[in-house]
Amino acid sequence: MMTEAIKVRSFQGKRAVEILGKLNLIHRGKKIKKSGDFILIPLIRRPNRDELNYILDNLGDVNFCVDFFEDRSSRPRSLVDALIGLIPNSKLELLPRSFDVIGDVAIIEIPPELSSFKRIIGEALMRIYPRIKAVFAKKSAVSGVFRVRELEHVAGVFSSITLHREYGCIFKVDVLNVYFSPRLSFERYRVARQVEDGEVVVDMFTGVGPFSIMIAKYSRANVFSIDINPRAISLLSENLKLNKLRGFVYPILADANYVLKLFRSEEFADRVVMNLPENSYLFLDKAIGLVKSGGVIHYYCFSGGDDPIMYARLKLIDKLRGCDISDFSIIHMRKVKPIAPYKWQIAIDFKVFK
Ligand SMILES: C[S@@+](CC[C@H](N)C(=O)[O-])C[C@H]1O[C@@H](n2cnc3c(N)ncnc32)[C@H](O)[C@@H]1O
Repeated sequence: MMTEAIKVRSFQGKRAVEILGKLNLIHRGKKIKKSGDFILIPLIRRPNRDELNYILDNLGDVNFCVDFFEDRSSRPRSLVDALIGLIPNSKLELLPRSFDVIGDVAIIEIPPELSSFKRIIGEALMRIYPRIKAVFAKKSAVSGVFRVRELEHVAGVFSSITLHREYGCIFKVDVLNVYFSPRLSFERYRVARQVEDGEVVVDMFTGVGPFSIMIAKYSRANVFSIDINPRAISLLSENLKLNKLRGFVYPILADANYVLKLFRSEEFADRVVMNLPENSYLFLDKAIGLVKSGGVIHYYCFSGGDDPIMYARLKLIDKLRGCDISDFSIIHMRKVKPIAPYKWQIAIDFKVFK
């Protein structure tokens, strides 16, 4: 079917979309197309006299034509695509390019300049990804003992509870009340693959148990999973019922500062996971107290600078000098994920000898 259109020179395309968008004249069901040096923008109708004057004032000479336009797929492919004409063109470039999806909940960082468009940005995200049922905007950084951030519900159902799947595991998560990052999925898998049947593992900062569950999914290990957040431990208990595990996971609601008391200062662990990157260094002596000679510690920290891995390594070595061990050997180091410009979460796996 032929459609009315406006034909402008390519360099005027962006401006024309802005002007026609303001007048609500763009046919959103059809694709804008290029023809030589021109851009053809499909219209829902011919502009009236006032609209035409406005167009001429802003774009100068323009031509109208009738042409064939491909249908736009009903689902937009990006936020920019979904929001052309719905927010001012000058703000399109401020739209976030990435966001986290936990189960069917999306968590997005909306810059202050776009704060009055939160709802339509959230709705656009749900149009692009129909599996997303709720959208929350970040209101703060991750903070506090429980490592959670403030979130504002912006679109979809008002439910912060969701089921997240990764590497064959299912995690029930309450995004408002517990820490969870989908960006750690490979890291959890990487650690889980190293665990052998029969190992004893302590997951010192377990959250809803993603490391613990993945470990027990892939090996017949005994995993002691500690967290200070009661909501996290209660979700971990539910998660144990949702997953078919080869090993055993024992949820423990406790402060990791007291693990040595809890386990009567026994050196019984083959492996300790320390995913509290902000503060894990404060708990190194406790982790070392739990681990057998030759055992492995999966240590996480934040680091920046030109060589964040090397910097993290030097800091860890400095801390280990003050610990009660005869030797240590670093087995592996990697950047896990960026957490801010030039700042990374770093993983360091090391063996402890006593
Ligand atoms: C960064 S989150 C990691 C959660 C989980 N390991 C994961 O990968 O999703 C750190 C967790 O440590 C817990 N935490 C913080 N301080 C703690 C402490 N002193 N003892 C036990 N858990 C603590 C927080 O409640 C939070 O769930």
